[in-house]
Amino acid sequence: MDKRRSKMCNPGRSALLSREHFGKLCPHKRMNETMQSAGSSPRREFVKMLLAGLISTVMGLVPLGAGLAVFLDPLRRKASSSGAIRVASLESLPPDGIPRVFPVLATRVDAWNKFKQAMIGSVYLRRTSDGQLQAFNVVCPHAGCFVDFDRDHYHCPCHNSTFTIAGKIDNPSSPAARGLDSLEVQVRDGNEIWVKFQQFQAGCAEKIPVA
Ligand code: FES
Repeated sequence: MDKRRSKMCNPGRSALLSREHFGKLCPHKRMNETMQSAGSSPRREFVKMLLAGLISTVMGLVPLGAGLAVFLDPLRRKASSSGAIRVASLESLPPDGIPRVFPVLATRVDAWNKFKQAMIGSVYLRRTSDGQLQAFNVVCPHAGCFVDFDRDHYHCPCHNSTFTIAGKIDNPSSPAARGLDSLEVQVRDGNEIWVKFQQFQAGCAEKIPVA
């Protein structure tokens, strides 16, 4: 016990003993120990460099991850409302040529939510005298109110714009600068009415799609 304590408390003696131990080694073992002690320093350097590389890689990934999160943020995505949408069946549209109003339902993505079959607008549909289909957006091109159909023409209750059954400006004193906004319409599978639904800028003479 005393010998051990004296060894622990006397580092000078330990060093002396190691030197003695080293001197007693055969030349071959001595060379090995020298090489091992010389090799420990580069290994430490290598481990240090490896750790530094790992840390800088992680630090570089943090802003990349933040950038990706911003890019994928649904608040920055546009709602999908373009393309043709099935709005009615042919059977539901009488052959009398009177326009009927139909809701336009589609999947709407709004911020973090997804609404299936949400109403994104409405259209007037009618059969023309030559058997074709006609579609108008119900929104008045003057300032965005919904137009009514009254007997043989369309009428906007907000500022009294009137439009013919074909969607043209009826009264030249109407404040609307253009006729009703017509939409592409087609029949698919023999009975389905599909409309390429689109909103347009109000208050101008040209039809300018709203993105
Ligand atoms: S919004 Fe229709 S006439 Fe003004």
